[in-house]
Amino acid sequence: MTDQTKINAVWKRLAEMPHRTLSELFANDADRVANLSQRIEADLGELGQVGMLLDWSKTHLDDALLHAFEEMADASEFASAREALFSGGIVNPTEGRPATHGAMRGSGTDADVEEAQALLARMGMLVEAIHEGALGEVKHLIHIGIGGSALGPALAIDALTRDLKLIDVHVVSNIDGLALEQAFAACDPATTLIAIASKTFTTTETITNATSALNWLADNQVTDPSGRVIALTANPEGAVEWGVDETRILPFPESVGGRYSLWSSIGFPVALAVGMEDFQAMLAGAQMIDNHFREVNGRANAPLLAAFGDLYYSRVRGCQTRAVFAYDERLALLPDYLQQLEMESNGKSVRTDGQPVEGTTAAVTWGGVGTDAQHAVFQLLHQGTHLIPVDFIASIAPGDELDPAHHRNLLMNCLAQGAALMAGKQADDPARAYPGNRPSAMFLIDDCDAATFGALIAFHEHRTFAGAVLMGINPFDQFGVELGKTIAKQIDSGEGEFDASTNALMQAAGLRA
Ligand code: F6P
Repeated sequence: MTDQTKINAVWKRLAEMPHRTLSELFANDADRVANLSQRIEADLGELGQVGMLLDWSKTHLDDALLHAFEEMADASEFASAREALFSGGIVNPTEGRPATHGAMRGSGTDADVEEAQALLARMGMLVEAIHEGALGEVKHLIHIGIGGSALGPALAIDALTRDLKLIDVHVVSNIDGLALEQAFAACDPATTLIAIASKTFTTTETITNATSALNWLADNQVTDPSGRVIALTANPEGAVEWGVDETRILPFPESVGGRYSLWSSIGFPVALAVGMEDFQAMLAGAQMIDNHFREVNGRANAPLLAAFGDLYYSRVRGCQTRAVFAYDERLALLPDYLQQLEMESNGKSVRTDGQPVEGTTAAVTWGGVGTDAQHAVFQLLHQGTHLIPVDFIASIAPGDELDPAHHRNLLMNCLAQGAALMAGKQADDPARAYPGNRPSAMFLIDDCDAATFGALIAFHEHRTFAGAVLMGINPFDQFGVELGKTIAKQIDSGEGEFDASTNALMQAAGLRA
């Protein structure tokens, strides 16, 4: 049982603790860098290596705060919640489900892992058959899905195919037909497959886009358009009913949440683009972080430490947002991916016991790519009135093959920003002064390869889960997205009463006479 009284008492204590500046924290602890940073690494044999240095020393966390958060983790029954996650416990109580995305990478109950491996083996056979030409010449894949059925694949493909792309993949999510038209323009219908990715197989955007994609194939003399379709879903019956041949359905378990589904058959386009070996490396990198998260306790547990920082800034320091800047073009889509992961998971206002949450929950996640963002939004980070904790992500190995000056400059800029945010600068002219004392954390990865990428994503999944446990909320449901969908259907059907503003807008938009 979580001890809410104790949790409340710890929050009260945290709120009363003095706010030390970053320079005071460094001055008072000669071992601060060693204490608040760690290297996580593993040799995954043929699948590669993972190495990343995580540095939380430029945040305001100190020993007293960390002790308090560790007490909070104990009072929140963090260890048993974590064990429940990996052992098939009902960690999604509002939907009465476990969350078995970990099993897709080998972390779960024997039965869940066995099922996951069988499903992935099936996916692997299809991927290899396509690569070997069993479905004829395939040059392009249009992957249609939205939210968790699109963001993970889009990110992974963008991150991992800069050197070599086995198949040209276009991820289309928006119901705005322009998105699909753009994909059509880039593909030859005679050599294009369509993947329909939808956990529920009911999502309006995806089904509408899939219908138009089949029409496009038919309109372009493809003789058997539905023979070019592969469904990735937890609702195989729905896919069959829609017209997908059973042999081309790659199912995944209902207990794998949409925004946690990259590791399942939703990752099919990734496997097709990078090959099964790299897909397996991605899973292995993620499993390595699962092992760390499962086995290490207290502040040495890196995702838990990150969650301590997140909660400290959002609840104790009142930060409403958290920014993520990838100093790596390959990770340009990471902020978008993390937005869904963190905001859909932890943007809640009731606890699992049904009581209102006291204090804020997920911060608004936003970000961009460095160095571009330096010339656009960093002004506010350095001199604005908001306190915004920043995560920087950079790779020691370059992704490009140009003059090493490019990568050297990229890394120098990344490190300079963290140093500048922290140190600030005094000046006689107030407009030219930098207050400093602004926090940042650093992920310095050895390379942006498949295994390290998997580790990075799994890290953020566990960071999100750890934050949810500490806040007492369920990260695995998303009822907040339903009301808008229902009202859109009411507008479509012409039923339902609307407010005066919406009525007027419907008329102006031509949706109502
Ligand atoms: O509406 C939100 C949501 O349900 C997300 O959680 C999910 O990732 C997305 O829509 C797509 O859902 P599906 O995979 O079922 O089409």
